[in-house]
Amino acid sequence: MPLQISSLEEYQSVYQQSIREPEAFWAAQAETFYWQKKWDKVLEWDFKKPDVKWFSGGKLNITENCLDRHLESKGDQTAIIWEPNDPNETVKKYTFRELHAAVCKAANALKVLGIEKGDRVCFYMPMVPELAIGVLACARIGAVHSVVFAGFSANALADRIKDATCKMVICSDFNKRGQKVIPVKSVVDEAIALGCSSVETVLVHKNTGGDIVWDEKIDQWWHNIVDIQTPQCPAEPMDAEDMLFILYTSGSTGKPKGVVHTCGGYMVYTTFSFKNVFQYKEGDVYWCTADIGWITGHSYIVYGPLSAGATTIMFEGVPTFPDAGRFWQICDKHKVNQFYTAPTAIRALMAKGDEFVDAYDLSSLKVIGSVGEPINEEAWHWYNEKVGKKRCPIVDTWWQTETGGIMITPLPNITDTKPCYAAYPMPGIQPVLLDSDGNEITENEAEGLLCVRFPWPSMLRTTYGDHERCKNTYFAAFENHYFTGDGARRDADGRYRIIGRVDDVINVSGHRMGTAEVENAINEHSNVVESAVVGYPHAIKGQGIYAYVIVNETVSDETVFRTEVCEVVRREIGAIAKPDKIQLVSGLPKTRSGKIMRRILRKIAANDTENLGDVSTLLNPDIVESVIEGRLKE
Ligand code: WTA
Repeated sequence: MPLQISSLEEYQSVYQQSIREPEAFWAAQAETFYWQKKWDKVLEWDFKKPDVKWFSGGKLNITENCLDRHLESKGDQTAIIWEPNDPNETVKKYTFRELHAAVCKAANALKVLGIEKGDRVCFYMPMVPELAIGVLACARIGAVHSVVFAGFSANALADRIKDATCKMVICSDFNKRGQKVIPVKSVVDEAIALGCSSVETVLVHKNTGGDIVWDEKIDQWWHNIVDIQTPQCPAEPMDAEDMLFILYTSGSTGKPKGVVHTCGGYMVYTTFSFKNVFQYKEGDVYWCTADIGWITGHSYIVYGPLSAGATTIMFEGVPTFPDAGRFWQICDKHKVNQFYTAPTAIRALMAKGDEFVDAYDLSSLKVIGSVGEPINEEAWHWYNEKVGKKRCPIVDTWWQTETGGIMITPLPNITDTKPCYAAYPMPGIQPVLLDSDGNEITENEAEGLLCVRFPWPSMLRTTYGDHERCKNTYFAAFENHYFTGDGARRDADGRYRIIGRVDDVINVSGHRMGTAEVENAINEHSNVVESAVVGYPHAIKGQGIYAYVIVNETVSDETVFRTEVCEVVRREIGAIAKPDKIQLVSGLPKTRSGKIMRRILRKIAANDTENLGDVSTLLNPDIVESVIEGRLKE
């Protein structure tokens, strides 16, 4: 197992060593894993291209590290606890031995269905054990998984299937969310009808057994084919730099891009960070409430915890069913020791009242974590007092789909915590603040653009099918730096506070969304001429979506029109991208070169119109007043 830091002095000296001798540091961590063949070179890198290789020449299979290597010492220990949507249904538990067998069977089924090393397999599934099993089965045989969050629409799913030319889609029949049962397979059918010609098989897991349309030519039942396989499957030897998975994420322009992670470095970093950030100890029960459709689920429900030999909980349901005490009831039921969730969930549950959290015994908790968006002070204090009872350090973890693992965070009971601060860099991580000209800001108590100046093992390698885009998005803004897209502040003691995105990406309930993507969706409405989308402060979601829309023909009923626009967005992207507010405008403030002045629109949406700056140089300065007048309050 990689090093687990246990004191402040150790953190400081390890951090220094990891910066002074990064290769020696990461080689020492990597040595603690099971490699079929050791690497030739620890690191080769060139951020200009970009070209980053960790442990090249090394051969491994991440599932041997997540499963096989634990069989002897902890084969009978629980690997996954699956908690169903309905608390009255039966919990499922998989020991490492059972999970190993289940993964091998699924891997053999994939092979029978013609999946080979390097093929892409798309997952569109609720949080059922078969999702984790399927993902690991891909890794077992060297197929590349691309998990698409099951809240995305058929259109969004089709875009992702096509971009990665997936040969197979694995889905469930239906998804149980609280009292609702949501169709899943029919969304896949719709996506495929949109021209996903690469898909040869749709492998369907029976979740509810409800009625679905069946196409004998491509549909296969999971249970028919997986259950009859043998529970052994050799682990495909993978090069450290072979692709492990693709995960689509939104940026400021264009369609979502497929962030590519590779096998060796990702394994080393997610395991190392998991052990340290959560201070996981043998026998602990760890729970991350994320969905495996996002990076947090990949790194900190599946790969990091399993590779570290941890017991990880997978929860099928929602935080408010049957009531707002569900998270705390699960913590109590399974005696959870480390709990990791998103600020938006904390705020939503805080708003429901303390009685829900007070009703349960949370004394097993040791560490509580936050991820995905800035946690505001009020939510931090509530989390600290009501959930952590002031005795569980809060790890406010900053990272991204692209970073693969947690980059900046307190280490519990090792470094200090401060509300709203993600605090200190992990060993091996070299964050810097740059000004907009690319000059490094070296002093403390300063604010700047958050960049990283040295590679770390789990960083993205490319964006699938478009390396130029990876270069332009992350490595072109500042020479020899990875640019995160976030602004940050460093306090007098060197702690980092993440301020938020400085690009046209908004973070709604911890979900990353490109404003351009939402605009493109809105523009699909037949009466919309042009639109501009910005984020605005939202008490529960962190940011809400505010859309300014110019219509072609006068709208007689604005409520009907708004419903239609939301429906178009739901169809194009998914319900998570529906605007919270839609304001009809007669024009949008633009520069003389025709660029929409989002800065002004952001301020209007936030009701911060005192200081709009000089608008006289705009192409259409008069429009500003009328946009302000029409601002939607609630
Ligand atoms: C934001 C999620 C403040 C940030 C793991 C980043 C945060 C984006 C934090 C990545 C945090 C993530 N404090 N902001 N602790 N964690 N963010 O790719 O803007 O879904 O760039 O990865 O979320 O979102 P993503």
